[in-house]
Amino acid sequence: MKYKLFILTVLAGTVLLISCNSGLETENEGTSNMNVSEAAIDSLINLMTLDEKLGLIHASSSFTSGGVPRLDIPELVFSDGPHGVRHEHGRGWYALEDADDEATYLPVGINLASTWNRDLGYKFGEVLGNEAKERGKDVLLGPGINIIRSPLNGRNFEYLSEDPFLTGEMGVGYVKGLQDQGIAACPKHYAANNQETDRHNIDALISRRAMHEIYFPGFKAVVQDGGAWSIMGAYNKINGQYTTHHEYLNNEILKGDWEFDGVVVSDWASVKDTREALLYGTDIEMGTELLRDFDNPVYEEFYLARPAKEMIESGEVDESYVDDKVRRVLRLMHRTTAMNDHGPGKRNVEEHQQIALDVAREGIVLLKNDGLLPLDKNEIQTIAVIGHNATRHFAERGGSSQVRALYEITPLEGIRNLVGDDVEIVYAEGYEPYYDESLFRGEGGDAASQSRENRQEVELARSANQELMQEAISVAEQADAVIFVGGWIHGHEGMPWGQGTYDAEARDKLNLKLIFGQEELIRKINSVNDQTAVVIMGGSNVEMDNWLPDTPAYVHAWYPGMEGGTALAEILFGEVNPSGKLPMTFANSHEDYPSHSIGEFPGDGTVDYAEDIYVGYRYFDTHNRQVHFPFGFGLSYTTFEFSDLKVDREDDKVIVQSTVTNTGDREGAEVVQVYVHHENPSVDRPIRELKGFDKVELAAGSSATVTIELDESAFKFYHPDQDEWVLEPGSYEVQVGNSSRDIKLTEKINW
Ligand code: GLC
Repeated sequence: MKYKLFILTVLAGTVLLISCNSGLETENEGTSNMNVSEAAIDSLINLMTLDEKLGLIHASSSFTSGGVPRLDIPELVFSDGPHGVRHEHGRGWYALEDADDEATYLPVGINLASTWNRDLGYKFGEVLGNEAKERGKDVLLGPGINIIRSPLNGRNFEYLSEDPFLTGEMGVGYVKGLQDQGIAACPKHYAANNQETDRHNIDALISRRAMHEIYFPGFKAVVQDGGAWSIMGAYNKINGQYTTHHEYLNNEILKGDWEFDGVVVSDWASVKDTREALLYGTDIEMGTELLRDFDNPVYEEFYLARPAKEMIESGEVDESYVDDKVRRVLRLMHRTTAMNDHGPGKRNVEEHQQIALDVAREGIVLLKNDGLLPLDKNEIQTIAVIGHNATRHFAERGGSSQVRALYEITPLEGIRNLVGDDVEIVYAEGYEPYYDESLFRGEGGDAASQSRENRQEVELARSANQELMQEAISVAEQADAVIFVGGWIHGHEGMPWGQGTYDAEARDKLNLKLIFGQEELIRKINSVNDQTAVVIMGGSNVEMDNWLPDTPAYVHAWYPGMEGGTALAEILFGEVNPSGKLPMTFANSHEDYPSHSIGEFPGDGTVDYAEDIYVGYRYFDTHNRQVHFPFGFGLSYTTFEFSDLKVDREDDKVIVQSTVTNTGDREGAEVVQVYVHHENPSVDRPIRELKGFDKVELAAGSSATVTIELDESAFKFYHPDQDEWVLEPGSYEVQVGNSSRDIKLTEKINW
């Protein structure tokens, strides 16, 4: 194992160098120690030349930023991704084929959010931290916490929710779990990276109120409550300025109001201007070669390298701006495994795979059940499992969040493992992916990435395969029950980067229509077998009007990770009682969403967030628009009742207490959701906003009292004219329910 660098203790100007270990070849070696103070960091900065300082604030390889060999300051080692430690790239842009880099492939972010379980958020981060540490990393490039503004965004799978409060609550645990292992979280992409189309240049036009009420809160939470040690800037602009070096976002809000003392890392190639990067908060520039020549990167030509040196030496920008960046980088190094020994990491251990299973079990959502589920394997002789996604592996797809999974249990394997010899399982693929450029929109702007690896022109079919469809229908007709597994394919189907990706980074979808002829296939299966359960996989919903009414049961499984097939089978056959709740609204068509009906998506050069704060249920509920399944919704195999609501003000706190009873005949978990409704606001406000939740597990027939504490911020709005948060006197309704459209109990209070 190659050694990386050291811990520094600056004693009276001399430097004692000590090391810890790493998996990545770096420029220096040594042994380990700890303990550093801000004074020590300042002393170290005073020892550095300008060249050495600049070396710390830009990339030294694809996934490292520079160290200072003379002072034995280590490089900083970064790795994707949000749901597993990515393939080993070494110092270049190609995954190393012979690397020891198999990892735990956790369910994707939106699956984690669907658990509404903060403890799982922490454990999710803890697994990532352990595996990143074992792989010799210092910074894990996650969680992805951009708001789900449109269901067409190719990276919704990687994010958490349409709601800023749920995003923040699930992100905080994740960040703490990671950083307790000594690995820096890097929540991304700050801010409003809500589409992939033209992502490198699109200019999002957003009101201050929408920034503060919708697009900032998740980042504020992971910084102020989670204590994130780094944060990643986004590619896009907001109101005319690139977010990675945005004066308002970085200097005034992040490092000003929120008092963030960590490092702003650019997205890879998101720095576009030296002066702005120096003045407006970029602390480390990564990946600029991606838009130049990633096979032959010249790091001295990065914006924060020679061009920055010239700007400092000419006096155009004061060196103190560089010193602040260096201070933040050294602080980060001392917090992480770069310079502190946080103990050994673990990788591919059973406890990690158990967390992957637990998150899948609690994040898969049962959305419709006419009584078909759970299936009884003792009552059924033959089950047809139909669908390409029943056997597809997803781990290495999706883009930069890819993982080389140690293994991946597919739905078919999970079902076969569970039923054993009790039931005959007959599989038919039913449909196959084909290459249809009309189905997605490109990221544009990223010309260099089009020439990236995998430029294999793959000859795929160009239309639905009728033979496969006929075979599947025949199999369905002869079975006692059918499990159809379809949805999105999560892309990078051997295609060139960004091509044919469907539901992955670098591409947005053009609509929510089920692809590859699946809708026709589901309808035909339903016509020959009325015992059909449909499982849809993907980072968001699909159009359902034409197949859902005749389908007895529907489960949404997202991309549930390496144990996803196991968890899905356990839910379908009742060994696990589903408790997932939607973190986004499922309407039928993308045109129903306010980002399309009021705002723009994806825009052209600029994209107008004209829907403003009315994102997701804030829009659908306020305007009483029809949806298939509302925010916060998810079914169980048991039933629950809510009672005895008490709402009491205690100074600036509001204590919300309610009782939940499991009125069914089996154990289950319910999510108590607390929404706030402002009765007569002086400005337009959504009909309700999620401000609290808690998940409670209950045995059949048992009850629990759930107490949720709100502080006064839960009742405030960001005043569009006063440009600040305001708590307006008046009457408010506290609403308790188990989805945004199923409010069980209400109580009023006054401020
Ligand atoms: C990508 C993504 C970002 C990722 C980074 C490094 O373009 O936008 O999420 O962490 O580059 O791969």
